Amino acid sequence: MREQVLKILYNSKGFISGEEISSKLQVSRTAVWKHINALKLEGYLIESVHKKGYRIIEKSNSLLPVEISNYLTTEKIGENIIHFESIQSTNDYAKENGNSLDHGTIVIAEEQVEGRGRMGRSWVSPKGTGIWMSLVLKPDIAPVEGVKVTQIGAAAVSNALRESLGVDAKIKWPNDITIKGKKVCGILTEMSAEINEIHYLVIGIGINVNVKQFPADIENMATSLMIEKGEPVDRKKILVDILSEFERLYDHFIHKGTLDKTIKICRDHSALIGKNVSIIKSGKKIEEGKVLRLSDDGFIIIKKHSGVEETIQSGEISIRGEAGYV
Ligand code: BTN
Repeated sequence: MREQVLKILYNSKGFISGEEISSKLQVSRTAVWKHINALKLEGYLIESVHKKGYRIIEKSNSLLPVEISNYLTTEKIGENIIHFESIQSTNDYAKENGNSLDHGTIVIAEEQVEGRGRMGRSWVSPKGTGIWMSLVLKPDIAPVEGVKVTQIGAAAVSNALRESLGVDAKIKWPNDITIKGKKVCGILTEMSAEINEIHYLVIGIGINVNVKQFPADIENMATSLMIEKGEPVDRKKILVDILSEFERLYDHFIHKGTLDKTIKICRDHSALIGKNVSIIKSGKKIEEGKVLRLSDDGFIIIKKHSGVEETIQSGEISIRGEAGYV
């Protein structure tokens, strides 16, 4: 109901009376008044003037579904948005409820108190400073194809960041986005499946948008959009741009059966091609070599020091010369 009140306020030009809102929603004027007060507490600046009614002046800083939906032009991605002020982890919520959530649902939080990264690491997710979200997808594809969707996520984020902010957002295979060698976004894809059927995929995307400072152990490896731009960045716009780019690339993959558009973005904006790297699996360095190219399936091909080429399908990569190189 609160969201409906908000929608009405957004859609009315100027003031709207409590009476009009109550008749639109078929609730009492007291109920309207209570919802307006709750919205004010949430951070909305709403002007109340005797005999005129209510008028929304300033939007909230939160990523509220009603505001996101107002800007979204996608069909399925983001059709349902579930928003939390604080949560353990949006991926945990999406996984726990995956069976009952519709395809395209976004779970988003202002803060995660136990945000998770890959390889069992934690993901720092301070309040109101990032995009901490999980996208639930139910594609009719073989489970082995599921990993490709991670690359769609990475391509969508990097394109959106480049186009809306003009930052040089590169893709560090398989699923990190970096700016000037520092990580600004990580993606954690998880899946519930049987041998030949995906129940659902959860694409968890964490973007450091307006994070000012990072914990000491990651501060030389991490950055935020605000640090790179030198000014605060509008989380809503970035989110909307990512979701539309994601839908464009995802629909192409599902309907045309090819990852070509995504791979082109991953190749054109690769942080790895031409670099000397180490490949790490389960915490251990397994290979060293130079990255030659990205295959059409989204695997990287390296030339080892012995001169032999090898296709790498999964693993962590560290780049020689960059912080964190092992
Ligand atoms: C990584 O680079 O290690 C992946 C980080 C993924 C973080 C996101 S934030 C939203 C979603 N919920 C989580 O707990 N993790 C992912």
